[in-house]
Amino acid sequence: MEELLRNWDGENLIVTYDRPAKTWIIIAVHSTVLGPAVGGTRMKTYTDLGEAVLDAQRLAAGMTYKWAAAGSDMGGGKAVLFVSEEMTGDDRTALLERYGDLVQKLRGLFMTGPDLGTSVADMDVIGQRAPSYIFGRSTAFGGAGDPAPFTALGVFTAIEVTAKQLFSETSVREKRVVIQGAGSVGRNLARMLSEAGAEVLFTDVDESAVQYGRDELGLTFIPTDEVYDVQCDIFAPCAIGGIISASTIDRLNCRAVVGGANNQLVKPEDAANLRARGILYAPDFVANCGGAVAITGIETTGWTREQAAEKVRKSVRENLLKIYELSSSQDISTDQAACLLAEMRLAKSEP
Ligand code: PHE
Repeated sequence: MEELLRNWDGENLIVTYDRPAKTWIIIAVHSTVLGPAVGGTRMKTYTDLGEAVLDAQRLAAGMTYKWAAAGSDMGGGKAVLFVSEEMTGDDRTALLERYGDLVQKLRGLFMTGPDLGTSVADMDVIGQRAPSYIFGRSTAFGGAGDPAPFTALGVFTAIEVTAKQLFSETSVREKRVVIQGAGSVGRNLARMLSEAGAEVLFTDVDESAVQYGRDELGLTFIPTDEVYDVQCDIFAPCAIGGIISASTIDRLNCRAVVGGANNQLVKPEDAANLRARGILYAPDFVANCGGAVAITGIETTGWTREQAAEKVRKSVRENLLKIYELSSSQDISTDQAACLLAEMRLAKSEP
């Protein structure tokens, strides 16, 4: 744990144990160089506190890069609610209220929205306690609602740009896409791809998500452990992070990795390894910026939903093209290129 704290390049880490809910609340503020730290609140079980802190730290850094690359005036942060079991009903509400009190106490150092394991309804609850610091509440509570369709739109755009790069085709028609995770982002993406004529295969660990994908969306299910081996054009990770590593890169049978999950790479070197295998990687924090960019834009600058969608498509398209170009001209990985882009913007704002 000491190592984790000492080695982190972020600004502040807040750790609180919520005794009634047996939950660790971790708020990682990575950078406020561009603005207040904004990032989702994740609710999940972990094996230990170290794992949860590391996840919060890495996700918060990812948000710094996401905002910087997207050109938003926000800093990077993320919250993790490390629950000991699944929280439902009144216990969940009470936990979220206490968490909301903590966010309120920080008075804008950290602002949050939905993420893996939390929903718009959860933001409504937190927002009762920290009204000025919550994004993604329901429209009934004055929010812009679920970010997932916008995240999916950004990933869809990234897939189009990547297909163009690889196959010189503007359409994803007849391209085969494997989606890992049919949660809120994955299922929206699957629908868009199917409508555009792509062949979509998917997997999920959750039985209800599997049912939804198969029965409602009519997608082909593939077993979880085969997801890296299936031959396809695009592999789209839309679940947890840390799934691109030396061992999975060896197995991948695709032309590109383009997905909505945060922190897809285990190590930065994995991007170079993908490149060496001839697999084009759309850096996660560029491809998946849509939800965060759209929801904060609608709520703080009054964009319409149509304007938000156009901003997302433009940001993803222009950034990815720049990144792919930089990667080949400088002979660096696409991840390095994306970090360069983000760091240039961060450096400009530093005094
Ligand atoms: N979960 C979002 C992301 O990872 C975070 C977010 C959503 C932030 C909505 C603000 C508003 O990008």
